[in-house]
Amino acid sequence: MTKTWFITGAGRGLGAEVARSALAAGDNVVATARSADSVKKALGESDRLLALALDVTDREAPKEAVATAVERFGRIDVLVNNAGYDHLGIFEEASEEDIETQFQTNVFGLMRVTRAVLPVMRRQKSGHIINLSSIGGKVAFDLCTLYGTSKFAVEGFSVNLAKDVASFGINVTVVSPGYFRTDFLDPSSVRFAGNRISDYDEVRGAVEAAYKDHSHQQLGDPQKFGPAIVEMASAAKPPMHFLVGSDAVQFARDEIAARSAEMDQWEKLSASTDHQNAAA
Ligand SMILES: NC(=O)c1ccc[n+]([C@@H]2O[C@H](COP(=O)([O-])OP(=O)(O)OC[C@H]3O[C@@H](n4cnc5c(N)ncnc54)[C@H](OP(=O)(O)O)[C@@H]3O)[C@@H](O)[C@H]2O)c1
Repeated sequence: MTKTWFITGAGRGLGAEVARSALAAGDNVVATARSADSVKKALGESDRLLALALDVTDREAPKEAVATAVERFGRIDVLVNNAGYDHLGIFEEASEEDIETQFQTNVFGLMRVTRAVLPVMRRQKSGHIINLSSIGGKVAFDLCTLYGTSKFAVEGFSVNLAKDVASFGINVTVVSPGYFRTDFLDPSSVRFAGNRISDYDEVRGAVEAAYKDHSHQQLGDPQKFGPAIVEMASAAKPPMHFLVGSDAVQFARDEIAARSAEMDQWEKLSASTDHQNAAA
């Protein structure tokens, strides 16, 4: 069956690669971006492609974009909530506005688009919501307090949303890429905290330089990301959590092992608070 995809942030990077792969698989694609022209530039023209302008921080725009998508293709089978950016820096150096903007895009924007698409998927009694988190949504990294917190929120939202919508035949997958060679760490995407506090100079200095040096040097190949997402989305029972990149798998394994060891170490005290006479 030909599927219809609705993808945010599809004018470049991982979103554009997913759109390209879905088109190559013969599916319909509603590729949205802050500028519809960037989609046309990245993906060209096709009868199966609808390029729409959509800034996910706009309160009304997702509803309008979803209505236009349904008018054109009649349904939405796969939503890819991909739009996002990385705010890097020391938490104390971030402004109130930095915090709000990070969450408006990575969390509230993603929820807003999901709310616009859910009525369509409920009517269909089918659908697949794919939310772009990050390995930074499972594991802590240096200078990632705002970004990591936003992606932990995406993870929490996704696993809980899955329970709300399972009875409608709607699946949810939270995707956690490792480091991919996109514009993610490029000045065109990444933002750094501005209010420098000299006490943090040592903590921040080498790490910030390392991130800058890592831009466009990452392990993950975006051209292989799109096909992996299309293959994952074709599964009869898609995964709840999908790690992408061998680095992501290793980071997650190490984190799970460390958490499990800590849980074992503290288990006796953890379990010491139970009532003795509770029903089993
Ligand atoms: N690359 C990595 O290493 C990596 C790792 C883990 C997770 N991720 C996640 O993967 C997703 C895609 O990142 P990427 O690597 O492709 O980075 P990218 O090349 O910087 O692309 C980011 C995309 O998000 C879009 N975007 C940002 N703010 C938006 C807004 N308010 N409304 C609509 N679109 C917006 C950008 O649109 P414009 O072109 O208009 O700026 C761009 O298309 C993000 O959610 C990111 O957190 C990436």
